[in-house]
Amino acid sequence: METTLSAIKPTGQLTLGNYLGALRNFPKFQDESKNIIFIADLHALTLPIAPEVLRENTRDVAAFYLAAGLDPKKTIIFLQSMVHQHSELSTIIGNYAYMGEMSRMTQFKEKSSHLNEKSIGLGIFTYPVLMAADIVLYNATKVPVGEDQKQHVELCRNLVTRFNHLYGDILTLPEPVIPTVGARIMSLSDPTKKMSKSDPKGDIFLKDDEKTIRKKIMSAVTDMETSVHYDKVNKPGISNLMTIYASIKNITIEDVEKEFVGSNYGTFKRAVADAIVAELTPFQNRYREIIASGELDRVLKEGAEQASQIAEVTLEKVKKAIGLYQVK
Ligand code: TYM
Repeated sequence: METTLSAIKPTGQLTLGNYLGALRNFPKFQDESKNIIFIADLHALTLPIAPEVLRENTRDVAAFYLAAGLDPKKTIIFLQSMVHQHSELSTIIGNYAYMGEMSRMTQFKEKSSHLNEKSIGLGIFTYPVLMAADIVLYNATKVPVGEDQKQHVELCRNLVTRFNHLYGDILTLPEPVIPTVGARIMSLSDPTKKMSKSDPKGDIFLKDDEKTIRKKIMSAVTDMETSVHYDKVNKPGISNLMTIYASIKNITIEDVEKEFVGSNYGTFKRAVADAIVAELTPFQNRYREIIASGELDRVLKEGAEQASQIAEVTLEKVKKAIGLYQVK
């Protein structure tokens, strides 16, 4: 049986990019495979974050998971920091990762480029190793992520292959699952850059109200032309809005082009804003109900217990394989 695993780190308010590239797809797997979705709170420590912000974001991600349709009876949902095996396995498999390949990680290069080299935290460099541990602990076969995480899953695959070459068939090789439309939602203010949690001007946040969403879409950067057609290089803004629309409506980019033949940008933008509002309003209502229900802690506690049982089996297997002394 397939095991699907993914996570989101609670570093900031979640964006429409997180939603379309990842979150919205998570529940699709819970009826067809074993589904494990967690909150990567240890990963959120890689850049400075205030304790109260981390706590609030963590609770929000958990509530968003349920609001998106994850069912705790079908999906194991938990906090990474509550399952100690993640940190332990990360310490072990970090020894099989090379400085060279770690230095080539695009996210590390991007996120550390504006920092002073002398004060870059170690966690941001080693974080793909922790992510590899996250994945292999549960023998995950499928990892649904946006485009920007593909390289990290590839690193995990390299570590698995290297480890198994040394010790036998111990770890399971995962595959990234990247959506065909919506894998890389771009910033609304600079559509050549990825929409990311740290860019208030270019983001749609999942908690934005209707008025804010409409305002942000209507003022999204486009181009001097008038036709709604897809051209990522010359029309990155319009192409991004087309991607958002296609992704929400579950249609192809060609369908979007056909639907808006002869429409001006104003009409098209209003349709995009309508689609986002129609998608996010019920989602936000569910989110509020979940927060009010006070159910989250119980879900997270039970999830951590279930996760820990699976994780322990893998960790023990690894310890034995590499020769850590087993006291009987
Ligand atoms: P994170 O928290 O940065 O992002 C969560 C998910 O959202 C996707 N995403 C996007 N998709 C489309 N367009 C965008 N603009 C966009 N921005 C983000 C990301 O690709 C991701 O799927 N390291 C991970 C969390 C993690 C993880 C794991 C994932 C930790 N352990 C194990 C899978 C398996 C991260 O930082 O995601």
